[in-house]
Parts: sequence; C-alpha cells; structure tokens
Amino acid sequence: MKVLVIGSNGQLGSDLCQLLGDQVVIPLTHQDIDITSIVTVKEALSRHRPDIVINTAAYVRVDDCESNQDKAFTVNALGARNVAAVSQELECRLVHISTDFVFGGQPNTPATPYTEFDRPDPPNIYGKTKLAGEDFVRHLCWRHFIVRSSALFGHTGSKGKGGNFVETILNLAYHNEQLQVVNDQIISPTYTKDLAQKIAQLMKTEYYGIFHITNKGACSWYDFAEEILRQTGQAKEIVSLSSEQYPQKAKRANYTALDNYHLRLLGMDDMRPWQEALADYIKTKKYI
Ligand SMILES: NC(=O)c1ccc[n+]([C@@H]2O[C@H](COP(=O)([O-])OP(=O)(O)OC[C@H]3O[C@@H](n4cnc5c(N)ncnc54)[C@H](OP(=O)(O)O)[C@@H]3O)[C@@H](O)[C@H]2O)c1
Repeated sequence: MKVLVIGSNGQLGSDLCQLLGDQVVIPLTHQDIDITSIVTVKEALSRHRPDIVINTAAYVRVDDCESNQDKAFTVNALGARNVAAVSQELECRLVHISTDFVFGGQPNTPATPYTEFDRPDPPNIYGKTKLAGEDFVRHLCWRHFIVRSSALFGHTGSKGKGGNFVETILNLAYHNEQLQVVNDQIISPTYTKDLAQKIAQLMKTEYYGIFHITNKGACSWYDFAEEILRQTGQAKEIVSLSSEQYPQKAKRANYTALDNYHLRLLGMDDMRPWQEALADYIKTKKYI
C-alpha cells in the first residue's frame, strides 16, 4: 500500500511515518505541499498516486485561531476540502485527523465521554474550523476515516504549538518550585505512537466513517500534570486553578473526553490507559 502523509514532520505525522515503515510511505512536509492551494494538492497527489492519504496538517494554535480566524478556516476547513476533493477525484482513500474540540460548546452534564454519535458543538474558532473540515471530508470523499483524538503527546512535540503538555510541565517543574494548572477541563490524553498504531490498523479495513481514538481514561490537566510529576519522581507543588482563574483567549470546554465507541463496536478498542502510555513515553524519552 502506498501511503502519502501530509504534515509528515509534525508530532503525529512523524510517528505515522515511522510506524508505517513496512509500507511505501511518501512523507510530505509543509514545504512539499500547501493544503490551502488545491493546485499544489492536485500536483502532489497526481505525481505520487497514493492508495491512501493521511492528512495531519492543521493550524493547531487554539488561542491564535481566535484572532486569526481567516487563517484557521483557510487551513483547517478549506485545506481539508482541497485534500478531500482531490482524494475523491484520484480514487484515494483518506484519513483525516480531527479533534475533541469539536465538542463542549454546552456543558456536558452528567459528564459522559462523547461518542461518534453525539452531535458536535464547538466552543471556539479552532473547533468550528476543524468541524467544517470534517464536513467537507464527509461530503467530498466517500472512502474516508475521520479520526478525532485529544491532548496529544508525542516525541517531536507539536510543531504548531511548539511542544506538548508533558514537555511543558517538565520544563516548568525544572525551573519552578510551584506550578499552576487548571483542574476543570477534562480531556483524554493520547500518545501519538498509540494513535498512529491504531490508524495503521484501521486504514487496512473498509470501516469508513468517524472514529474517536484516544488512550483509555480521562482526567483534568491538573491530574495529568500530577501524574507526569509522579512518574518522573518530582515532588513539586501544583496549585489547582479553575478556568476562570486561568483565562485563555479561546473558550475551553469543561469536558471533551472521548469514548472510542465505534472502535469498541467493531471489537477494535484495545487502546491502553493514558497512564501506561505516559509511562512508555517517559521511558522512551529517558526521563527516568
Ligand atoms: N496537538 C494536539 O493536542 C491535538 C489534539 C487533538 C487533535 N489534534 C489534531 O491532530 C493533527 C496533528 O496535530 P499535531 O500535534 O501533530 O500538529 P503539528 O505537530 O503542528 O503538525 C501539523 C503539521 O501540519 C503542517 N502544516 C500546517 N499547515 C499546513 C499547510 N497549510 N499545508 C501543509 N502542511 C501544513 C505543519 O507544518 P509547519 O509547522 O511547517 O507549518 C506540521 O508539520 C491536527 O489535525 C490537529 O488538529 C491535535
């Protein structure tokens, strides 16, 4: 199978390229392809003629999306449209990466993880643009897998965000005695290596549609930070803050944990708990 990976040097893209090593992989960075230009998308896909395209590219800076709405819609919505339209035209299958931030515009009470059958309701511009991208993919390329994940941590760190939460916490802990972390936003932390493995498995099937793929479990950013420090043996104090005490440009949902329901229905949900995935990440990075 010939697999073309867009965003190949990103956090998820780099793990995908490494993991798909037994396939013919065509890694394309932003320098090789600009998804906002349908001309370059057509040119790249026509030249390589992949069987499947994986689009990890996005404008991922959630807070900046609020002040750069045009860029956010151009990359996350129109870029997704371009890749989907050309994939359909060239009869390629398409894996499109999306986010838990399509949920949470309204409070989720009682808090239960979102399934693929729940109606999205984005709380901010980033979520709206990613949802618009999903809609283009669903309408334009019928052999699609839309993969929503959450709070990614991977070896290269997010290119767009300049790192990931694990690195941020370790860096803060190195320089400070006390850390401050929000306790009222619940997410499903996910190791990009595990996500890449599941995508590789899924794309061999014909189970098209929307998939939630996260490590098992959910926690607040505060719990996540506490576990990072516990696993790396650091006794630093973490002060727990509410979202009100830690204002951010983009509104955050109080709860966006995802349920891998579609995978479970297919008997494919063997994702490990996020704590185990974190331990693997920390060990591989040689932090202990
Ligand atoms: N990070 C998270 O916590 C998280 C959570 C849930 C879902 N997601 C989704 O997961 C996907 C991957 O995220 P990630 O953390 O791997 O992000 P990342 O490290 O920033 O990777 C994104 C890649 O896309 C490239 N890119 C950006 N704009 C492009 C364009 N117009 N044309 C072509 N390539 C472009 C970037 O290259 P340059 O940097 O050179 O522009 C980068 O290589 C995204 O779709 C994101 O929405 C992320």
